[in-house]
Amino acid sequence: MTAGESHAREWIAGARRVFAMTGAGISAESGIPTFRDAAGLWKDFRPEELASPEGFERDPARVWEWYAWRLELLNKAQPNAGHRALAELERRCEEFLLLTQNVDGLHQRAGSRCVHEVHGSIRRVREVASGKVYKEGEIAIAPPYPVRTAEGRLVRPDVVWFGEMICEGAAEAAEEFLDEAPPDVCLVVGTSGLFPYIQRWALRARDRGARLIEVNMEASPISAFADALLIGKAGEVLPRLVG
Ligand code: OAD
Repeated sequence: MTAGESHAREWIAGARRVFAMTGAGISAESGIPTFRDAAGLWKDFRPEELASPEGFERDPARVWEWYAWRLELLNKAQPNAGHRALAELERRCEEFLLLTQNVDGLHQRAGSRCVHEVHGSIRRVREVASGKVYKEGEIAIAPPYPVRTAEGRLVRPDVVWFGEMICEGAAEAAEEFLDEAPPDVCLVVGTSGLFPYIQRWALRARDRGARLIEVNMEASPISAFADALLIGKAGEVLPRLVG
């Protein structure tokens, strides 16, 4: 264990309130590709075609085929030791909030309860025209694409695309948690941290007195403000921090 890890472990052991944020990196060891790494999704696919309202308008079948392929990958994936360590940490803390940018549902499957999905869920769909949201399983995600309701209304994945607002409920939960009382620890795991709201929440937690711990394979824009930057795989580092 490095010096940074042993400090982080102490901070976590003494923490009563923990604010955590995760990105694609935490699910990488479950076999789900990240977006911006060397073998990431955005190397082979164009976000403006597959993850934007305009791309969907141009070719909804193509977008659905891509999401159905990702869903198939997720369905085969299992939560890893990193997801499980965060679920364990939640059980130990008095107050805990996890914001994930992932749409894979693996935190919930690992046992995390207080999870907010900032970018929505790949398992839910919503009607394009009315915005009505359907729960997981209510409408089968299956060919022929694009997916439609039984009445033939076009639906889309209930995820956040480029140029869209993040999920309101998740943003509110973050703001409330940070307003209510200072967190003791802010844990940022496996995200390139490019989105301003992720940086803002991390900084806000730190400004309120939290120890900012980042776990990543490389430095991110958040690293400059981190009290501890722990370079390594989430599935290996997190169990050492929490165990
Ligand atoms: P990215 O692909 O941008 O970043 C993944 C981060 O995880 C990188 O910093 C990697 O170094 C790190 N990483 C990779 N493997 C890891 C491992 N085993 N352990 C720890 N860290 C690891 O993914 P996000 O930051 O989640 O949005 O991307 C944010 C958003 O951009 C996504 O939600 C998605 C994407 O476009 C939308 O589709 C709207």
